[in-house]
Amino acid sequence: MTTSVDISTAFTLKNSVMIKNRTFKSAMSEQLGNKQHNPTDGLTNLYKLWAEGGIGIMMSGNIMIDRTALGEPKNVVLDEASDLQAFKKWARAGSLHNTQFWAQLNHPGKQIPNFMTKEPVAPSAIQLENGLELGFNKPRALTESEIQGIIGKFATAARLAKEVGFTGVQIHGAHGYLVSQFLSSRHNQRSDQWGGSLENRMRFVKAVYEAMRAEVGADYPIGIKLNSADFMRGGFTEEESMTVVVELAKAGIDLIEVSGGTYESPAMVGHKRKQSTVQREAYFLDYAEKVRNLIDTPLVVTGGFRSTKGMNDALASGACDFVGLARPLAVVPDMPAKAMNNVAYKINLKPLTTGVKLVDKIATLDITWYEAQMARMAQRKAPKPNLSEWMTFAKTLGNAGLYAFRKRRA
Ligand SMILES: Cc1cc2nc3c(=O)[nH]c(=O)nc-3n(C[C@H](O)[C@H](O)[C@H](O)COP(=O)(O)O)c2cc1C
Repeated sequence: MTTSVDISTAFTLKNSVMIKNRTFKSAMSEQLGNKQHNPTDGLTNLYKLWAEGGIGIMMSGNIMIDRTALGEPKNVVLDEASDLQAFKKWARAGSLHNTQFWAQLNHPGKQIPNFMTKEPVAPSAIQLENGLELGFNKPRALTESEIQGIIGKFATAARLAKEVGFTGVQIHGAHGYLVSQFLSSRHNQRSDQWGGSLENRMRFVKAVYEAMRAEVGADYPIGIKLNSADFMRGGFTEEESMTVVVELAKAGIDLIEVSGGTYESPAMVGHKRKQSTVQREAYFLDYAEKVRNLIDTPLVVTGGFRSTKGMNDALASGACDFVGLARPLAVVPDMPAKAMNNVAYKINLKPLTTGVKLVDKIATLDITWYEAQMARMAQRKAPKPNLSEWMTFAKTLGNAGLYAFRKRRA
């Protein structure tokens, strides 16, 4: 099916929320929280800039729901102890120019580096593999009451997100974090009601959704970012993902963002690209096309979009309703406006390498280099497309070292 939709076409969600165009900023963890894990003025600057750049709907970087389980040192946390005034300021800046600004809510489960925690929690006590054994400790399995506690924390964070002025929330159900760990038979080997069959493994995400819905009411938008697959042996499969999508659609979720991969297998940033993907830019369009036939919940596809043509073709094919953008916005914050004004617009992101393979692996440049760009914009500096990879690496090492030192002294 082809339609005449393009990136500048408005969209109305079922609860009458109007989104001014089809460009969607995907979550990027900014690492711009302060020592108490509240939003800083830098975050406000950054989101104001993005709101000025023409984007229709933005997700915040992942906001943690539990301050005892941070994924990164400078994460923002939204709970009863948060500085709600600082959150209000941030939410206001991101909602300027009629931009939808949603809070992405996350619990990292076992994806917490070992310089931050001795013993993370997870559905089961299964260590991350694929070379991550060095950086991540083996988790312990959550108890029943801890699971209920975490569901409650997701619900509290959603209530507070609404209170401070975010226009919606998104559950981070992708990329190998806690919700995604529950869904995966590789990571969830529980024998109680939370593990085993897919019906049991998806109980957690459904419970999180229902608990959040009970707090925010029927009309407040709740979305989810979900993996099309984990791309790991024994992990969450495409067929399972489709079953989960259908269940969440039935439960009334407002928006589904499609991604894929985990820390063990980072497909979300294009490490598993197929030839069909290279031609169509976006990594997960084939999957979205299949899902499109199963549900009529609005769909976002994220990963790989770099040109007006790539985005418009995806929308016109009917495979998705929104195009998700992350890394391009860290280098060109007004990319949506530029793309809407020029059908030939294309951004070329430089391939990131220090030239030393081992260093590249440790440096996770796909993340840290873009974080450095966000940090520049937070300080009202322009992004720097030729920023040195070695500088980024040195800074990352410094930050991790300082954190570990502070923790030891605390
Ligand atoms: C610096 C950085 C931080 C990210 N943090 C998050 C996050 O907090 N939550 C999330 O769902 N995805 C996160 N992602 C993944 C992006 O949302 C997106 O799925 C991925 O970068 C692919 O899209 P792109 O090709 O447009 O960059 C992050 C990506 C980058 C580069």
